[in-house]
Formats: sequence, C-alpha cells, structure tokens
Amino acid sequence: MTRQLGSLEDLPRDYRAALTERNLLPLWPNLRAVLPPDKPQPRTRPTHWSYEGLRPLLLRAGELTPIEWAERRVLVLANPGHGLDNMQATPAISLGMQLLLPGEWAPSHRHSPNAVRVIVEGEGAYTTVNGEKCVMHRGDLILTPTWQWHEHGHEGDKPVVWLDVLDLPLVHYLEASYHVDGSRQTVTPDRGDAIYARGGVVPASAFERADKPYPMLRYPWQEARAALCALADNHDLATVQVAYVNPETGRDAQNILGYYAQMLRPAQTLKLPLRSPAMVFHVIEGAIEARIDENAFALAEADTCCAPGYASVTLQNRSPRAAAFLFIADEAPLHRKLGIYESRG
Ligand SMILES: [Fe+2]
Repeated sequence: MTRQLGSLEDLPRDYRAALTERNLLPLWPNLRAVLPPDKPQPRTRPTHWSYEGLRPLLLRAGELTPIEWAERRVLVLANPGHGLDNMQATPAISLGMQLLLPGEWAPSHRHSPNAVRVIVEGEGAYTTVNGEKCVMHRGDLILTPTWQWHEHGHEGDKPVVWLDVLDLPLVHYLEASYHVDGSRQTVTPDRGDAIYARGGVVPASAFERADKPYPMLRYPWQEARAALCALADNHDLATVQVAYVNPETGRDAQNILGYYAQMLRPAQTLKLPLRSPAMVFHVIEGAIEARIDENAFALAEADTCCAPGYASVTLQNRSPRAAAFLFIADEAPLHRKLGIYESRG
C-alpha cells in the first residue's frame, strides 16, 4: 500500500514563505503527483473530433482569413485535458485540420518540429518537400521531417483539407522550436514514392546504397491499403497493421512519432495492448467505434480521436460487410529512445 505523505499545509507558514523566497520547494507534498503508484495519471483526455462538426468552421476560416494572413490555415484539434491554448492532442502530438483553397499557396518554410500530413478531402493540391513535389490524394501520408523545406500549392478547383500531425508540443517544451522562411522551391525529378514503389528492392547505384535521411516523403494510400489487404488475405493475424518506415533502414519514418495504417475486417472487434505511448486514430475509410477507457466514440470517415498512454483501447468496425481503414500516430519511437516504452499486453 502506498503511504500517505505530508502536505504543504502541514508546514508552518513562515517556513513555506522562507522556501519560496529562496526558490525552494519541498518534494514530499508533490511526490505522489509526479510519481503516482502503478501507472501514470495522464492529463490527456480521450477526445473525439468529428469532421462533420469541424468542416463548416474550417471552410468559414477560408472566407474569414486569407492565406496571406494565416500562412497555414489550420484549426488545431486541442485536447481539453491539456488546456486548449496549449495546442496539444497528447503530450507530444499536435493535430490540425488545414484548408487550402484553389490557387492558394502556403509559402516555403522549414522548422525543427517534424510534421506529416494525411489527406482528408479534395484533389489537386501538392506539398513540395526539399524540391520533391508530392501530390496529395486522399489517405496519402506526406512527411515533412525536421528542417526539410516545405510549401503547399493547389492546382485543383475545390477545397483541399488535410490532417497535420506534428511533434511540436515536445519540441516546444524542449525550447527548441523555431522556423525559418524560405523562397519558392525548384522542383526536382527525385521522387521517392516512385523510386521506392516496389517492395524488396532499393536503389544501389555503383553498388552503394542511398544515404538520404528521408528517402521517401510521400506514402501513397493505395499502396498502404494494398499492403493491408495482402496481409489480411495471406496471414491469419488478429491485428492487420503496417508501419510507415524509412525504406532504406526499415526504421521508423521519423524520429519522434510513429505512423501506422490499420485494417479492421468487417464487424471485427480489436482490443489493443495497454501501452505507454499516447495514440491518435484517424478514419480513412469506414465507420468505427473506439472505446477508450470509459468513453465510447462513434467515428465516421475523416473523424479523429486520441487516447492517453496506458489507456484501454478497443476498436470495432461498425460495418458487417466492408473493411475499415485507420491511420494511427503514436509516441512509441520517442518512448523507445527514452527507454520508457512499455506494453502490458
Ligand atoms: Fe511547416
């Protein structure tokens, strides 16, 4: 049993004042808050963001605020447990829905936090990352890793929306977050999504392997979806899931956050292992119920929700006929690097 410790109020007022005056703090009244018994006490609350609910507000932002006044026209999906102003979905993840209208251009910049985007709606937009033009189709994952130049353009005729996922809260907490503005990029023919489109082979020019830190920047949804269907057809797995990786190293696609695609068979119910990293779920296709601790969220296509670390998570495909597909982001690469990763099965 965990012993109760003395409180601040147990201490004489003059003693507390003397400590405060010298920038000192007794540990024992705060010890259980920072080292709770058995499992952490997360500030992250299971939260659901409905696309149907946010879409009209995002489109209205397109009328209210020209791109020149926004630079990135984003509504942040903020977790109330962290306070909305802190722009956190989880401790290390920030989420935003970004709108780009036909003909608009979001200027080139680069920054210390990593970002990725998952395309939610619309055709004709693109992100240019370090000179590589990455076209945006629904469900595609596009990386803009730390310090890579990136800008967004739109050659289509309808609004385009994507989900931004960044490790901004962590990098900001470390007081290492800043950006640099750049000029319009020149597009090069170096397209990682074409070069690495076939599994099992990688470039080996003059017998040497490529050494770019981020060789692949666009992960087409049709390829990830086909990989999931092949996995479901050829393996008797309960969890049909793929990880987005660096095709040269096989390691996580980025340093801090992990990205995955998951398929739920028709009517499948899947209980996830209890793990230390917080997670984000975004529905690419289908309708899902996500039970996160004592919350139950009915997720429609393009909806997003989050779960704190150590939460009990059960996902259920609400369709008895069609498979459902999810994009998942988590903080696992960070936890593994820090040595605090835990899976309780
Ligand atoms: Fe950016």
